[in-house]
Amino acid sequence: MSSKYRVEYQLKNHRKDEFITWIKSLLASPFVLHAVSHDDDDNVTTERVRRQYAEIFQDIELLISSKIEFDAKNGLLDVEESNEGQYELIGKSRLNQLVPSIGPFFTMLPLHEAFLWEDSKRAISQRRMVAPSFNDVRHILNTAQVFHFIQQKREGGAGLKLVTFDGDVTLYEDGGSLVDADPVIPYMVKLLESNIRVGICTAAGYDEPTKYESRLHGLLVAVHSSTTLTSEQKSNLAVMGGESNYLFRYYEDGDDFGFKPIDTSIWVLPEMKDWQDHDINATLDFAERTLITLKERLKLPVETVLVRKPRAVGLVPGEKSDLTSGKPVRVLLSREQLEEIVLTIQHSLETFKPARRLHYSCFDGGSDVWCDIGGKDLGVRILQKFFSPNNPIKPSETLHVGDQFAPTGLGNDVKARLAGFNTMDFIS
Ligand code: IMP
Ligand code: MG
Repeated sequence: MSSKYRVEYQLKNHRKDEFITWIKSLLASPFVLHAVSHDDDDNVTTERVRRQYAEIFQDIELLISSKIEFDAKNGLLDVEESNEGQYELIGKSRLNQLVPSIGPFFTMLPLHEAFLWEDSKRAISQRRMVAPSFNDVRHILNTAQVFHFIQQKREGGAGLKLVTFDGDVTLYEDGGSLVDADPVIPYMVKLLESNIRVGICTAAGYDEPTKYESRLHGLLVAVHSSTTLTSEQKSNLAVMGGESNYLFRYYEDGDDFGFKPIDTSIWVLPEMKDWQDHDINATLDFAERTLITLKERLKLPVETVLVRKPRAVGLVPGEKSDLTSGKPVRVLLSREQLEEIVLTIQHSLETFKPARRLHYSCFDGGSDVWCDIGGKDLGVRILQKFFSPNNPIKPSETLHVGDQFAPTGLGNDVKARLAGFNTMDFIS
């Protein structure tokens, strides 16, 4: 039997970001009470609502600031340590009391300034029918993160040293590639020109570089043909593939250029050294069996294909012939099927001993489902150490840009946030 709570939780909570939902609920009151024209002059209404929204963002900014102070005092900002459970022992910051699932913040977020900027573009406080939405709040949080780094640069602080990008649905379409004319490419080159390291941190796992070279071809050509980048700056481009399993670095030798594999022994993190091959295989075997059972139980299309790799297992859509054109078409899985599979695998692996001895990531990639060994939290940390072995780049100097920030199980970029990197949620 399912209680109402259980149904709500099972169906919705895995999709909700509690922090964004909470901010949205704070903004709902001024919208309901004040975004109504009591006065004849609509500008007066707009000004009043804008001021109230802005005050709310100012207050949240202060709550974040005192949370950072609280967490720093209690050693909760050290990503090398597992932070799980520590909040229980030493009390909670005010923001943690209000939003229990909130993770650590590594930088201040100038939300007040970001709100005013977004409002000037999106006219949020001019709206009378549509309250500030989840997407409005995402935009404001993203903008605040960028404003923080701009402020740091202005003040001559440490600033931004590493930007990592997710691949599918962030840099390119699902399953797509970066082509030569892609508008994001000049910006990525600009980051390299500013001595910022750039990492592509993707779940797509291939143990050799050709596939990454073809999917990132446009970027490689731009870096190779750049006349402004020094060779050191060019070598600040890397790919972390299969979440945290394969590392490649940009190289060029005359007309020859691409990604060169870097031996695991150079970058492997201490905790990853303890992972045993038999635990990795047992975990993937277990996930594979679960996927096969679910394919049957959920009556997935027979065409659905199981893919097994050395460090991953997934279910991807198959193809069939279109009845009218005769051309092959993909047989897609529904959103409900994808979510049910991810949540079931995640839930089953939590009690599977070999899996508990390592890190794994189960996620819904939009049209497929994967269980990978490792995670983007480790992937980003590997890059922080690889680029700066003697003085690893800090979380507060790192920004991850991704598209998969569903809070539990479903997203794989969210791990980068849980491990405490500043993040930007890609908004199409
Ligand atoms: P990301 O968005 O760049 O992290 O890539 C995720 C997508 O990569 C998934 O949705 C899959 O379509 C694709 N993919 C290809 N190989 C793998 C793999 O080994 N593990 C997980 N995802 C994979
Ligand atoms: Mg993605």
